[in-house]
Amino acid sequence: MKYQIAVVKGDGIGPEIVTEAMAVLEKVGRKFGHEFAFQQVLAGGCSIDAHGVPLTEEAIQTCKAADSVLLGAVGGPKWDNVPSEKRPEKALLGLRAALGLFANLRPAQMHKALSAACPIKPEIIGDGFDILVCRELTGDVYFGAHGRRESDKGWGVVGYDDMNYSAFEVERIARRAFEMARVRSKKVTSVDKANVLETSRVWRETVTRVAADYPDVELGHMYVDNAAMQLVHNPGQFDVILTGNLFGDILSDEASMITGSIGMLPSASLNESGRGMYEPIHGSAPDIAGQGIANPIATILSCAMMLRYSFGLKAEADAIEAAVEKALDDGHRTRDLATPGEKAVSTHEMGEIIRGNL
Ligand code: IPM
Ligand code: MG
Repeated sequence: MKYQIAVVKGDGIGPEIVTEAMAVLEKVGRKFGHEFAFQQVLAGGCSIDAHGVPLTEEAIQTCKAADSVLLGAVGGPKWDNVPSEKRPEKALLGLRAALGLFANLRPAQMHKALSAACPIKPEIIGDGFDILVCRELTGDVYFGAHGRRESDKGWGVVGYDDMNYSAFEVERIARRAFEMARVRSKKVTSVDKANVLETSRVWRETVTRVAADYPDVELGHMYVDNAAMQLVHNPGQFDVILTGNLFGDILSDEASMITGSIGMLPSASLNESGRGMYEPIHGSAPDIAGQGIANPIATILSCAMMLRYSFGLKAEADAIEAAVEKALDDGHRTRDLATPGEKAVSTHEMGEIIRGNL
């Protein structure tokens, strides 16, 4: 079968890591008899340089027409001083909105081989953890009214960003979370700030109502500040974490770091039809761009999620994950994963090792 994949390499380390991931997909294609046709799309800072805007209509159309989108990372200090409407991040937010990618799945697992890189003491980690952050991606304060006005107290300029969630949006992401929990450990922890925010009270009421349709799944609620603490105190208690756009952004970075490196975490962003965009949760890391030392694993694992969630290719997805696991078990480490003094492999070498394991 032939699959069309729109590829947004983006900025910073994006091109380096995506190149490795594309080569992994090609290897999987040869092994399992699929064809992956890539169509390159400019978005982010590189699009600002080429077209004056972070995301062109043409880029959106190419991504919409593809079976799925693979993205590296966007942004960097070069574009830090452009007006907010033109920032590279707008490319990411624009694609999420244009493709209706409301469900962001960010798995954070403890790889046994990486326990030395985990910043939490072994006695706290115990048997490890296997968390799926299920983050709502097209609503919340990210997409509310943004603006500036003059303070009526004479305190100068006021920035404001409207936080809001409709019952429809909450129900849609909650159902995804419960469905994911059903095929995992059957536990959902919904994270909000219902002690303070009205948005969160609507969130909590809606999640509680939806939960009645999933009696086989255990539902708990947690305030976001407590959740941030619990993630480092006892990460093993979590299965699916269901949360909004802003809290999910923060908690998924935290969850990634307890796996040993933010360079390990893949993500899937899905719409109602199951189409999706797949990207590492980390950013463009301009400080290490162009040096060939970035960790390509999060992007490679994002390809595994693509095969599983958008193309229904389970055996192929499992093969990529096993190839990554073996690379780690065999002691191969990119610089972010290496302990002080340990030898590190390059971005390309890590890609080659993983492809060799396939
Ligand atoms: C992420 C990123 C983005 C977000 C930024 C780059 C807009 O941090 O995907 O987690 O906040 O969603
Ligand atoms: Mg983030």
